[in-house]
Amino acid sequence: MSSKSRQVFITGCASGFGRMLTSAFLARGWKVYATLRKLDERRESFVEEQGKWGEQLQLREFDVTNESQRQSLVEEFTETGLDCLINNAGFGQFGAAETLSDEQFRQQFEVNVFACLFLTRDLLPALRSKKGSIVFLSSVLGYSGVPLTSAYCSSKFALEGFAEALYHELAPFDTRVYLIEPGGHRTDFGTNTSWGQLESPAFAQHTNNYKSFLAKKLSAPGTPPQGVIDKIVKLVHSRSKRLRVPLGSDAKQLYFLKHLVPEWLHHRLLHSVFRGMFWREAAQ
Ligand SMILES: NC(=O)c1ccc[n+]([C@@H]2O[C@H](COP(=O)([O-])OP(=O)(O)OC[C@H]3O[C@@H](n4cnc5c(N)ncnc54)[C@H](OP(=O)(O)O)[C@@H]3O)[C@@H](O)[C@H]2O)c1
Repeated sequence: MSSKSRQVFITGCASGFGRMLTSAFLARGWKVYATLRKLDERRESFVEEQGKWGEQLQLREFDVTNESQRQSLVEEFTETGLDCLINNAGFGQFGAAETLSDEQFRQQFEVNVFACLFLTRDLLPALRSKKGSIVFLSSVLGYSGVPLTSAYCSSKFALEGFAEALYHELAPFDTRVYLIEPGGHRTDFGTNTSWGQLESPAFAQHTNNYKSFLAKKLSAPGTPPQGVIDKIVKLVHSRSKRLRVPLGSDAKQLYFLKHLVPEWLHHRLLHSVFRGMFWREAAQ
């Protein structure tokens, strides 16, 4: 099939991986439905590509938690079918569990889990009709539990369960499912992360330690996101049958630690890492 006729739907294209995936798929001749919030304010950043690609770039307003926006977008693919869906939109709700409000836990699941489940479910007939691909932006924190990220970790673990079941469910229809599991990469993720709003003196020092660890990571050059983009493009074009794809040295190390090292040793090693990262001074 000529890649000219292929259509990809991407969520969260305002920044980071989503923005770069938009350019990468356009450059390979796909028709890209790039969706984002506050489109009118952000349209400017797409002007050059719109000029270059014309109708190949379709911009749509879409808050992934908005049901009526979802329904009208899904209708666009009823007739044509869809070759690829990339569930990319997401954010980090960080902080110790006891500092997170009900609303904060709920919002984390609304965006990172339910929005992906509902959108994917609604687009499945269109994706099956094209023997398409579904890409989920999970995380290293989708298979490794880390202190002070329980809301984010649990949302990505949930996404992994959905994707793994779907991987098997869609196999008879030759429709692919990929779980992309990046470690830390240089995007706007850190600045878009929000923190627990409830007071917990017991975790104040741990939280400060983690925040300064993340601030240091953010100000360092960091892993460029291009490797993630190239891998997603390659997987979709090659129609690889792989499900999980850890990306970045931190994600790969944790992946092998989890799968090759006995669980008791894995946890013991991680405890010593976490003691250095979070617990220093806090235990005094
Ligand atoms: N960067 C990393 O180190 C890393 C590592 C592992 C996994 N990930 C995952 O990769 C995905 C992309 O993140 P990123 O690194 O590219 O960070 P990013 O630059 O912050 O991009 C996330 C995008 O999601 C959008 N988004 C958030 N809530 C939304 C909503 N309700 N509706 C529509 N769009 C929404 C944001 O748009 P607004 O500006 O409108 O909020 C933003 O453009 C996320 O799922 C994240 O969990 C990132």
